[in-house]
Amino acid sequence: MKIKKQIEYPSLHIEAISSEGLGIAKPEGKVVFVEAAIPGDEVSVKIVQAKKAFEQGKIIDILTPSKDRIAPFCDHFGVCGGCKWQYASYEAQLAYKEEIVKNAFERLAKVPIKEILPIAGSSQTQYYRNKLEFTFSNKKWLTLEQIQSEDTAINRDALGFHIPRLFDKIIDIEHCYLQGGLSNEIRNFIKSYALQNQLSFYDIREHVGFLRTLIIKTSTAGETLVFIVFGENKQKEITSLTKALMQQFPSINSLQYAINLKKNDSIFDLEPVLVHGNDYIIETLGSKKYKIGAKSFFQTNPVQGKTLYDITKAFANVQPHETVYDLYTGVGSIALYISDDCKQVIGIEEVAPAIEDAKENAVLNQSDNCYFYTGDVRKIINSDLYQKHGKPDVIITDPPRAGMHEDVVKELLNIEANRIVYVSCNPATQARDIQLLNEKYEVSKMQAVDMFPHTKHIENIALLTLRK
Ligand SMILES: C[S@@+](CC[C@H](N)C(=O)[O-])C[C@H]1O[C@@H](n2cnc3c(N)ncnc32)[C@H](O)[C@@H]1O
Repeated sequence: MKIKKQIEYPSLHIEAISSEGLGIAKPEGKVVFVEAAIPGDEVSVKIVQAKKAFEQGKIIDILTPSKDRIAPFCDHFGVCGGCKWQYASYEAQLAYKEEIVKNAFERLAKVPIKEILPIAGSSQTQYYRNKLEFTFSNKKWLTLEQIQSEDTAINRDALGFHIPRLFDKIIDIEHCYLQGGLSNEIRNFIKSYALQNQLSFYDIREHVGFLRTLIIKTSTAGETLVFIVFGENKQKEITSLTKALMQQFPSINSLQYAINLKKNDSIFDLEPVLVHGNDYIIETLGSKKYKIGAKSFFQTNPVQGKTLYDITKAFANVQPHETVYDLYTGVGSIALYISDDCKQVIGIEEVAPAIEDAKENAVLNQSDNCYFYTGDVRKIINSDLYQKHGKPDVIITDPPRAGMHEDVVKELLNIEANRIVYVSCNPATQARDIQLLNEKYEVSKMQAVDMFPHTKHIENIALLTLRK
């Protein structure tokens, strides 16, 4: 058998960062992507994947650290899949994100941009999420020390996050820097209670066990919603646990649970049972209120969510006589956010429960000029809709990572709205779509928003203006 030669580079200089958050080195004209490396690092590298066009490797040793390299703040760093960029200073992270966006537009799509505003960084770089989902498992990920100790009495129950690429291994979380409020205390209390009372943690391979998942949602005003999913319908144990939880944390605003006897963890077909409080908490962004239930979708960083909506609103600059289409509206958050300033907003979204939330939120905010439609944007934007509401003066579009379907882009070119505000969580597909829209639109302004500090994720907003 031919043994493949292990490729190693004794010293590589990292020049740039890729859209996937990897360091880029270019030894002798080759392109090498290096995991966990940042521009300015001098590193020795072991190649783990060698292709014709590029190689990908892992750091063996950091020979000279970049000036932007800092010590990670979290004890779970390196094993947990979250907050992966915490080895780079926050200023450097923002600069990388700006560079990635610029690269997508100027070098790949080659679309000129009239004005690029500086990225809107997050004032809060820790505890910025309003929702976390933890998994109970009897397959705790063990540290090397724990494995080497040969201590057979180590408890394998864990409550935390999935290890990237290992579906059955869970890292037991002691402290998570992503969610503030009572999140850490509630999670640790439930784990200790379960261990003390010998409640079983779920076994994902055998599909047995009492405790399955824990979802904690918080609002900026400090409200807390707790949703526990059980794998067995044991009413006595559920009552004892929820009672103990309320006794320990009387300020919990909403406590719900559901029984999941299916093999998959999806919660959308489960019926939540209310134990305490309302079945929702309220998030306030600007002057608008949004109901957040156990199952509803909402921007997970509310502070930066408001920044995103403020920039979107400023770019759209809607006028009282104007009709706005909000494509891929989710729970109608952007539609509602701008509804006071225009004649009407038409929100389109394919997930039916999200549209139910959108309609409820419209009632909550007494916004009677919002109309919501469930279905594929590609099918819903057609002459029937234009007849009913008129063609839009302004289009706001916020598609998923894959961007817009080519037919949708073609229809936007056909509609010829005066302005399009394109909100995107993937600058590469956004640049691809805007390259096509460039036939009739120019990019007047662009600004990125950092919704997810310490990750490679970028949100980018572009204002497109119809060429007259
Ligand atoms: C990035 S989210 C938009 C979120 C929303 N604008 C907000 O700020 O909360 C994209 C949304 O598009 C929806 N979606 C994906 N493909 C769709 C399609 N073909 N037609 C309609 N909605 C779609 C998803 O369900 C999701 O809610």
